[in-house]
Amino acid sequence: MTLPAGFLGTRADVLLDLVIVSLVVVVPVLAFSWHQVRRGRYALHRRLQLTLLAVLAVAVGAFELNMRMLGGIFAATRASRYAGTATLDSWIWLHTALAIATTLVWVVLAWVSVRRFPRPPAPNAFGARHRAWGRLGMILMALTGLTSLPVYVYGFAL
Ligand code: HEM
Repeated sequence: MTLPAGFLGTRADVLLDLVIVSLVVVVPVLAFSWHQVRRGRYALHRRLQLTLLAVLAVAVGAFELNMRMLGGIFAATRASRYAGTATLDSWIWLHTALAIATTLVWVVLAWVSVRRFPRPPAPNAFGARHRAWGRLGMILMALTGLTSLPVYVYGFAL
């Protein structure tokens, strides 16, 4: 599928648009996965969480590479009317802090969960700790996805 460059905004390239879309799509996928695990669909939950991790690793990895090539987020958003303002800068820092925290929680939680749960997955002694970190991870991921929107709008679309 080819998407027109900057189909959400004006100056952003396709890669940026795709990352924003994937981050926003993550939120409903998380809600669905959470709903499914609460109904006892553990295998579907496992597959969704691991697929999400793999897809985001590729999408965010490509995005990070692109950002580095553009000279970093502050250089990439130089053309925005909001460049250098507290509004854009605080969204960038908040989003970055959330993204780092989310990555740490997710990678460690996925790694430990695959090792600690049986296959096919089912609740066990690790369940309570997994639930607590899983809830935190999902909330962090959702906030990371949602805060990508103001960064995109203030940084690239306005
Ligand atoms: C890494 C991303 C993951 C996140 C953010 C996550 C999140 C969650 C959450 C929030 C719950 C609790 C739902 C509730 O009762 O409110 C849960 C339960 C569960 N998850 Fe995950 N999960 C992840 C990965 C996995 C993986 C990879 C597996 C399997 C290997 C797995 C297996 C389970 C199981 C078996 C439960 C039920 C635990 C119990 O009720 O004792 N999860 N998960």
